[in-house]
Amino acid sequence: MNIIIAKDYDTLGRIAATRFAAQVIQKPNAVLGFATGSSPLSTYAAMIKLYREGIVDFSKARTFNLDEYCGLSRDHEQSYYKFMFDNLFTHINVDPKNVHLPDGLAKDFSAHCREYEAEIDAAGGIDLQILGIGTNGHIGFNEPEPAFSPITHRVALTENTIRDNQRFFKSFDDVPKFALSMGIGSIMRARSIVLVASGKSKAEVIKGMVKGEITPDLPASILQLHCDVTVVLDSAAASLL
Ligand code: F6R
Repeated sequence: MNIIIAKDYDTLGRIAATRFAAQVIQKPNAVLGFATGSSPLSTYAAMIKLYREGIVDFSKARTFNLDEYCGLSRDHEQSYYKFMFDNLFTHINVDPKNVHLPDGLAKDFSAHCREYEAEIDAAGGIDLQILGIGTNGHIGFNEPEPAFSPITHRVALTENTIRDNQRFFKSFDDVPKFALSMGIGSIMRARSIVLVASGKSKAEVIKGMVKGEITPDLPASILQLHCDVTVVLDSAAASLL
């Protein structure tokens, strides 16, 4: 793993965004993997700035998001679809036709997950994937489990994750209990990965991911086996390394 320690959250975002811009400059129709949550927000802000400065053109880029809550419509305030349009897609020239997120209202989740995986394959696979990390080591919504999950699937969120995400909802009960998520296998098939993490609450899990045993108990630990992972941290998240 390449580890970069940035002086703060905004700098971390500028570093990760530069990596994305370089990817799209090199390959205009690159397949980009996106995540939601607090971690990538400074990256998305920096990507918007690079677009506005005319440094990068996203018009041919294709995008696939890691996950979506089950049971939320795309226009729900907390859907990941809405998050992506509010925080990135509306502000850059990505073609909405090229945007893909799992559909939390799909009638047949298994069939939909297989189709999503097939769409990633048909696009040629993900060139560059951004990841955040949960305090329990999840990436996407791949929670600690007895085994690594191979493909996009429906997951039951752990109590830890529901509590972490409660800040976006009125109450614990309002947080969806299931999500559709790319699998660990889907993530590992991305050609390059950038994981961003900030703040003291991530320090322990970052230490486990980088230095600990590779185990499905800490799903992100599998990234030790990927040949092109860059971890961009602020100093608080890196404080136990
Ligand atoms: C979201 C996702 C999650 C988050 C993780 C960290 O699409 O895949 O794995 O990256 O829960 O969330 P934040 O960044 O809010 O701490």
